[in-house]
Formats: sequence, structure tokens, C-alpha cells
Amino acid sequence: MATIGVFDSGIGGLTVAKAIADLNAYDKLIYYGDIAHLPYGDKSAAAIQAYSVRIAEFLVAKGCETLVIACNSASASATDLLKEYLGHKIKVINVIDPMVDYVVKGFPKKHVGVIGTKRTIDSEIYQNLLKSKNKGISTSAMATPLLVPVIEENIFSEDLRKRIIEEYLHHADFQELDALILGCTHYPLLKKDISEYMGPRVSILDSSEIMGNYLNEFDPQNKSVTTEIECYASDLTPFFEESASRFFGKPIKMEIHHLMNIF
Ligand code: DGL
Repeated sequence: MATIGVFDSGIGGLTVAKAIADLNAYDKLIYYGDIAHLPYGDKSAAAIQAYSVRIAEFLVAKGCETLVIACNSASASATDLLKEYLGHKIKVINVIDPMVDYVVKGFPKKHVGVIGTKRTIDSEIYQNLLKSKNKGISTSAMATPLLVPVIEENIFSEDLRKRIIEEYLHHADFQELDALILGCTHYPLLKKDISEYMGPRVSILDSSEIMGNYLNEFDPQNKSVTTEIECYASDLTPFFEESASRFFGKPIKMEIHHLMNIF
């Protein structure tokens, strides 16, 4: 039985989880949303590492053989630690490496923008990995933290969403981009608005789309099964349950699992 675990700080990672479920390659997908500690993006790397270790241990205990860190802030802060600590028990994949590989192949010598949380952007992980793999790629990066509450709070006002997007992306560094990486798992939910603002010349790159292809190579399962979905959260909110059901297109019952012994 092939079981894959996916975690994020909240609902954003559901974009990646849905893309994985659509592969029909795993018997079971277990999703964990760490709502109690959301947002990760303004926490210290040490705090994110502590949460990530507890979540990964839970997913290992649940029988997962593959772990997807579907949160850029956790991918930037905890990938090395999780590989070192649990790599003998579980294959660890993050959302940053597949994106970097994709950009290196598809956008050599191009100007690529990255937006994400403060934790992800301050870590400079995208900028450094892209530069180390292809010196011809130039990058502009910006933390855009207000975009997360826009999604978690389910802001329907198109006007307000557009004003926040413009406030960030009107910056001079973002005017001549060839591609823009949505370096936060929540942002694909604003892809249409961001794409409209940036215009058709700029490719908007979304991890959930890229992850499917990457997993086919990294963890080939060669199966055609219907993936059973199990969802857990560190705090239960009706919005989370509703969002999961909407994403997966079927009723999802969320269960609570507290992360013990940490702040
Ligand atoms: N999921 C987080 C990420 O991709 C964004 C939300 C948060 O700050 O927790 O970085």
C-alpha cells in the first residue's frame, strides 16, 4: 500500500495535495494542516523546524513512505533537518527543488521573480539555488505576507485582492520579468488575479502544477488507483473542512491531531 504524506501550515498545501491525488498513483494521501501555528512565514526557522519534525513523525507513524513538504517556509527551513532525521524512514520532497529544476530548464538567461513569505524570501533559498544551477538567470525577490491572510480569510472582494497585489507587484524590479514563481503554497489560489496584473508576457509558475511531473520521476508508482484521502489538523475550523472538501471535490472529514510537547 503506497501512502504519501503532505503537510502545510494551513489550506495552501491543498493545491499540491490535489495535484498529487490526481496522479492516481498512491493508495492513500494523508494531509496535515498545522492551523494552530499558522502562519509559518513570520516564525523563526527553529520554530518551523520543531513543528515540521512533529508533523513528519506523525506521518511516518501513519505509514507514509513519501513525505511532501507542501509549504515553502517549511521547505526553506526544515528540508535538510527532516532528511537527516527521518530520511532512513521516509523519502522527503519539498516544493522548492522541483520548481528550481523547472526554472533552470525552462528559463535559462531569463529574469525570474519570486514572491513568498518573509521566512522563504529572507532565507534566499530560491535566489541561491537558481544562481548556483544557472548563472545566467537573474532574480528579483519580494516578501508578500499580506497575500496569505487574503486566502485564509477567504476575501471575496476582487477589488481588495487586486489592490494588495498591485501594492506589492508595481515595484520597479518586477516590471521586466519573464516568469514569476509563486513561492508560497497559498498563492496559486490567487493565480488568476496575479496573472491578470502581470500580463500575458510573464509566465506564472505554480508548484502544484510542477509537483505532479516531478513525483512521477522521483517516486514512480506505476499505478492507477483511486487515492483515498485522510485529513488532519492541529486545530479544527469549519473553513478548513469546507476548503478540503471543495479541493478534493468530495466530503472530507477532518480529524484533529495536536502536536504535543512544543510551544
Ligand atoms: N504555506 C506557507 C508557505 O508556503 C504560507 C503560509 C504561512 O505563512 O504559513 O510558505
